[in-house]
Amino acid sequence: MKLWSKGFEPDKLIEEFTVGRDRELDLRLAKYDVEGSMAHIRMLESIGLLEADELKILLEALEDIKVTAERGEFLIEEGIEDVHSQVELMLTRRLGDVGKKIHSGRSRNDQVLVDLKLFLRDELKNIADHVLALFERLQKLSNEHSAVLMPGYTHLQVAMPSSFGLWFGAYAESLVDDMQLVLAAYNVANQNPLGSAAGYGSSFPLNRRMTTELLNFNNLHFNVVAAQMSRGKTERAVAYAIAALASTLGKMAMDVCLFMCQNFGFISFPDELTTGSSIMPHKKNPDVFEIMRGKCNRLQSVPNEISLLTANLPLGYHRDLQLLKDIIFPATTEICSCLDMCDFMLQNIRVNSDILSESRYDYLFTVEDVNRLALGGMPFRDAYREVGMQVQRGEYSPTKEVHHTHEGSIGNLCNAEISEKMNRVMEMMK
Ligand code: ARG
Repeated sequence: MKLWSKGFEPDKLIEEFTVGRDRELDLRLAKYDVEGSMAHIRMLESIGLLEADELKILLEALEDIKVTAERGEFLIEEGIEDVHSQVELMLTRRLGDVGKKIHSGRSRNDQVLVDLKLFLRDELKNIADHVLALFERLQKLSNEHSAVLMPGYTHLQVAMPSSFGLWFGAYAESLVDDMQLVLAAYNVANQNPLGSAAGYGSSFPLNRRMTTELLNFNNLHFNVVAAQMSRGKTERAVAYAIAALASTLGKMAMDVCLFMCQNFGFISFPDELTTGSSIMPHKKNPDVFEIMRGKCNRLQSVPNEISLLTANLPLGYHRDLQLLKDIIFPATTEICSCLDMCDFMLQNIRVNSDILSESRYDYLFTVEDVNRLALGGMPFRDAYREVGMQVQRGEYSPTKEVHHTHEGSIGNLCNAEISEKMNRVMEMMK
């Protein structure tokens, strides 16, 4: 039996095709669906559409369903199409006619919107927690290894001295930029769509400010059509944030694979964190970072997928929007698992502290030597030529000293300032 049943049941094949993965994916929305309903019925009572005693028993029943959902025991029964139908069914089973009253002034269209806003708001907070853990790990490693030099490359050619302090710290600061997108998505998600009903509001005198407060939203999506149009836009904002994080993580995973390669030998991991080969007995492969790189590359296609799914939809609700769940739900889980795994692996990273003693890295210091001559009074272009000729004649011998002091350089990482930036963004997610 459907919520929208009016004397006939749809064909089984039609039902299966249209319900899709909702019965499984909607389980993640159950807790939020109940919270949305609680706010909605409190508001209905305040405008006279429910009696106080009806509100009381409905709230008790909803509280029980919420506890079931929080325990992970909420189920969508065979033949029930989504979380919204299941909750209403549970209420009518327990309370009879009172259960049928809760849907006044709302539609599943704004119901699912509110569920998604609440869900994505929580997911973004969860992502932020994972980002913070990785950020702190990277900062710690950067501070610990601030004096350990490594080659810096341009065009993948030996360029200038870099350090593990810079490398780890670079990814930490990069995460701060990604968090700006997480924060933007959070602000988009943190607006109340409830009351937009099917997408055009209701003739009941709904108090939308009241549900906004009850659900702890920062603001309303005032225009009911805009509220409905935020389906897809919100998911896309979240996807951009996830893609930004994935691009940072994916790049780092690539660096790790490269630096673990024997030709570099800059870093290593304990044996038990590497993987083997079925034929080559010596192998200790970086599969974790390869899988991470692959997953992060895939995650960067999520905004595109969402754009294509929603590209030619005119305003208003369309069932296509249901498929957004198939795309964004796994993405939020995947990014957290990658952030987690990266943190776990970095906890065990081993750094080679004697990389630059090899002569193949001597040229890293040419600029350092040019600058030394220039500081001694020689015009820069002459100093450049002087060192260039030494290299050309095969006579160059580096002094192997680095004197970087400006902000953000090897000798002055400014990690405290970077932490400060991160704290400011994190603070705004509260
Ligand atoms: N499962 C649906 C979705 O996610 C719920 C809303 C259904 N609304 C409708 N008009 N058929 O979009």
